[in-house]
Amino acid sequence: MAILEVKNVNYTYHTRYHTVEALKEVSGTFIRGKLYALVGKSGSGKSTLLSLMAGLMLPESGEVLFEGTPTSRMDLDKYRLYHAAVIYQSFRLFPLLTVSENITYPMELRGFRGEKARALAAELVEKVNLPAGALDRFPDMLSGGEQQRVGIARAMSMNSGLLLADEPTGNLDTENGDRLVSILLDLAHNDDYCVIVATHDLELAARADKVLRISDGMLGDG
Ligand SMILES: Nc1ncnc2c1ncn2[C@@H]1O[C@H](COP(=O)(O)OP(=O)(O)OP(=O)(O)O)[C@@H](O)[C@H]1O
Ligand SMILES: [Mg+2]
Repeated sequence: MAILEVKNVNYTYHTRYHTVEALKEVSGTFIRGKLYALVGKSGSGKSTLLSLMAGLMLPESGEVLFEGTPTSRMDLDKYRLYHAAVIYQSFRLFPLLTVSENITYPMELRGFRGEKARALAAELVEKVNLPAGALDRFPDMLSGGEQQRVGIARAMSMNSGLLLADEPTGNLDTENGDRLVSILLDLAHNDDYCVIVATHDLELAARADKVLRISDGMLGDG
């Protein structure tokens, strides 16, 4: 079964000054085991679609279904905490928490704490190719590429099988970007994750299993 399905989704932003039809009748099916790249010009609707997938907002019409259940029928706070793992271009790590605490904090919100949580954090840090010594460091003692990998480790601690990423290589140099894509591919192919990435990075898109292009709020094959 598809882990995520988008069905005839429309989304319009209404501001005081204008109305923007950001997504128009967007449909797509996303399965585990694949890395999807969402590409398209600036303003085409990529981040809007990811926000709907992540449960940050609901479609105006149409549905986003996670394992068959529409997000409109879920408690969105729970959906975000347990199912929709997100990483951002700007990393968004907690600056005053160590790497280990950054990863265990959301685990604690899910009721998973103590030595077990720390052991899982250590495992995940290894999985994203960070040295074990990184666990006790603060984010600003790491490079951008390393911080982004902490973001992935934190997202993976949810073990939900779905990872959404908005421009994850946007702040990285080529080498760290390549390494990040390899980790995302590994997650899809070896851990059976569904990874969906909005990106301007053509090298990332070239390595994806499937490229979807958004143009003026409409989705088509890349
Ligand atoms: N909060 C908002 N209020 C009003 N309009 C918005 C808002 N967020 C996005 N938009 C508009 O919706 C459209 C789609 O924006 P979106 O951020 O989804 O594009 P994008 O493909 O992610 O662009 P980029 O590549 O620059 O990140 C754009 O026209 C944008 O100006
Ligand atoms: Mg965007």
